[in-house]
Amino acid sequence: MDDSPLQVLTVATAPYPDQRHGSGGLRRMVNVFQTRKHYLHNFIQSIFSSIDLRDRQGSTVMVGGDGRFFNQTAIRVIVQMAAANGVGRLVIGQHGIMSTPAISCMIRKCKAIGGIILTASHDPGGPNGGLGIKFNTANGGPASEAVANKIHQISRTIEEFAICPGLQVDLMTLGRQTFDLENKFKPFTVEIVDSVESYANLLRNIFDFAALKELLSGESHISVRLDAMHGAAGPYVRRILCGELGCPANSAVNCVPLEDFGGQRPDPNLTYAADLADSMRDGQFDFGAAFGGDGDRHMVLGKHGLYVSPSDSVAVIADNIFCIPYFQHTGVRGFARSMPTSAALDSFLETIFHFIRCRVAKATKIELYETPPGWNFFGSLMDAGKLSLCGEESFGAGGDHIRETDGLWAVLAWLSIMATRRQSVQDILKDHWLKYGRNYFTRYDYESIDIDTACEMMEDLEIIITDKSFVKQRFAVEDKLYQVEKADSFEYTDPVNSSLTRNQGLRIIFSDGSRIIYRLSGTRINGATVQIYIDSYEKERLSEDTQVMLAPLATIALKISKLHHRTGRSGPSLIT
Ligand code: G1P
Repeated sequence: MDDSPLQVLTVATAPYPDQRHGSGGLRRMVNVFQTRKHYLHNFIQSIFSSIDLRDRQGSTVMVGGDGRFFNQTAIRVIVQMAAANGVGRLVIGQHGIMSTPAISCMIRKCKAIGGIILTASHDPGGPNGGLGIKFNTANGGPASEAVANKIHQISRTIEEFAICPGLQVDLMTLGRQTFDLENKFKPFTVEIVDSVESYANLLRNIFDFAALKELLSGESHISVRLDAMHGAAGPYVRRILCGELGCPANSAVNCVPLEDFGGQRPDPNLTYAADLADSMRDGQFDFGAAFGGDGDRHMVLGKHGLYVSPSDSVAVIADNIFCIPYFQHTGVRGFARSMPTSAALDSFLETIFHFIRCRVAKATKIELYETPPGWNFFGSLMDAGKLSLCGEESFGAGGDHIRETDGLWAVLAWLSIMATRRQSVQDILKDHWLKYGRNYFTRYDYESIDIDTACEMMEDLEIIITDKSFVKQRFAVEDKLYQVEKADSFEYTDPVNSSLTRNQGLRIIFSDGSRIIYRLSGTRINGATVQIYIDSYEKERLSEDTQVMLAPLATIALKISKLHHRTGRSGPSLIT
């Protein structure tokens, strides 16, 4: 065997203009990485070059992903490039698989300078699907806008990358591998780890596992159905929910990660997790949950498949926050939601504050932050001790235990509420609406739209809604009349570092508080996805059909944007 030090090479390359690290990292079709010369290498080098050499040398970096097609190939390249870029130690999930929340947990635990996450989250997998590369920084959360911009700038002028082409890593065997590199004093090490135990340990310190075990496997236990959608959540669901908390093994399905997620999109909503909803319809399960491809997102269903909207989910968790022992210790620092997420959290906080103020003259209001989509904005608030709990309409919720949305955490949060209140999902949700009113919410996605058409539509729409004459305009549909109160292009100033983020969606807010929001998705792999979000508050009519309730606003949204006319579409590709 040749044990001479491995060669470090510098390879010339040419830049690509489109390597922007968006809210979900860089996402492209797999074949872009396969066919464009050094497309992967350029982006990885741009990530490493964005880190100061002094911080990078000898540092620890985490690597893992959702198990999709091409991930392992990409990880082998990342290992070769990390070694050549002075990283001292890589910690990698066995088989290259690690859920996004677990990576966030491990970055913080191992004091890594960051992590590279191979996931395109909810986008399809397999050879014809997408691939995503996301860089998370030392706080465990997605790169800030400033870091993302730096990576993009570097990628636009890159001329060379460093690599150790002879370094062959074994991703299958747990344990440490060391490699000697030429011109290096210290060996480069790779640790292949099973992250489930570290992550489970984090959850054990947040929740009351004994109470959860009683709920899930005690004498009068509830019955559950858990669907990991063939993503990275599977091993965590099996070991934590089944192995430790006692859910029967057959209650967890699709727990083996597959490169194409079994041909389904790993997006936990009623369309793509339809099997879960179907299996719950006859009432044999009290609680159901589906998890996104990288384990970050979740969908909660009650008996007979009762749907809990993600916006309601975070509001209910907020109202019951002290059912989670962790928050009994930390207290509540603040709440946050992304701008397009329904205002259910606001409705709850307004009522609660009004209620407290009636009794305590100088009651301090708990701060509610409204951020652009993307967990990096929440992470900044959490790092500054301003935020405890947050959520997004895109099936994400989490606490400040890590800096990512956390599907398993959210499911354990719901189960903790059920265990404490001894109530069903349905009763918890109905009680919530009775107390605080209900925010009906829907999102229409128009996928694979020509990028120029989508951008032109958004530009024209911005001109229309920001014209002075737009405010006070009235729109009538059937017996409903809405008057525009405010309209703008949403921008956000981070209260911690004062950085300004512009163009985060076009908002129309009506005088009754109803909202229509238009936004282009930042995470799609194919063309543009135009998203319309509709949110309307109701105090009395609590059990209506969401689509019926929001139909007048949807008509108005389409009329103002002329979306169907401009795109040639007759309806959305996906409704959530
Ligand atoms: C989507 C979600 C957003 C989430 C992001 C990263 O972004 O809508 O809430 O933070 O993925 O998972 P979008 O495609 O809408 O830009």
